[in-house]
Amino acid sequence: MRKKIIAGNWKMNNNKSETKQLISSINNLLKFRDNLRVIIAPSFTNLESAVGYSSDSFIEVSSQNVHHKTSGAYTGEVSAAMLLSIGINIAIIGHSERREYFNEDELLLFEKVKTTLDNGMEVIFCFGENINERRANKHFDVVSSQIKNVLFKLKDSEFKKIILAYEPVWAIGTGETANPTQIQEMHSHIRKLIAAKYGNKLSQSTPILYGGSVKSNNAVEIFSNKDVDGGLIGGASLNSEDFINIINSI
Ligand code: 13P
Repeated sequence: MRKKIIAGNWKMNNNKSETKQLISSINNLLKFRDNLRVIIAPSFTNLESAVGYSSDSFIEVSSQNVHHKTSGAYTGEVSAAMLLSIGINIAIIGHSERREYFNEDELLLFEKVKTTLDNGMEVIFCFGENINERRANKHFDVVSSQIKNVLFKLKDSEFKKIILAYEPVWAIGTGETANPTQIQEMHSHIRKLIAAKYGNKLSQSTPILYGGSVKSNNAVEIFSNKDVDGGLIGGASLNSEDFINIINSI
């Protein structure tokens, strides 16, 4: 059975003391469940402290980004090996904000995914259509090519380390969520794509998360879809009670 996953993408929020406070209040409310992973992704400067602050809980810590090269003259960048050396085993790659504001294209994203996996880390890979693509009814094609152009270049053994996160761009930070039918039909489409490429067994064991305005008042409805294995939460992950309510909804 696939484990449930709730991941909080903190984006560019929280300084060191706020990081400590938020982790401690999540910890106070969080109950261990065998089939559940809880992941938080603070910014680079707070990753090492976050690992320390969550050392006596089952919270896992992920980075929000990673550089595509292993080392070298890339001023201001952070490598997978550096992340690993401070206890970070997961990286978010392909978030729409990085695609849009930092011009990350699919060739670069493939390099990032490959380098991260080569370092033995897991990847949360984000993708999703924008509003024009949705209106033009191109969302299935867009998502198919986003997945094929990056993830389907991986070997089976590499693909096993990927957590997929479908995040329709029009639902991110807008308060507008895809409805349960739109979510389930896309997740089922993605699972079929994976089955056609890697076989049914791997497809059935691959986690597919939904992200985009998941809140405590819509989480139950979103998570009740059979191909939704959890959520990638932005705004609502910055408040411990909201985040816990979302965790308790799965
Ligand atoms: P919101 O939950 O704020 O819409 O953000 C979603 C997201 O981008 C998570 O990566």
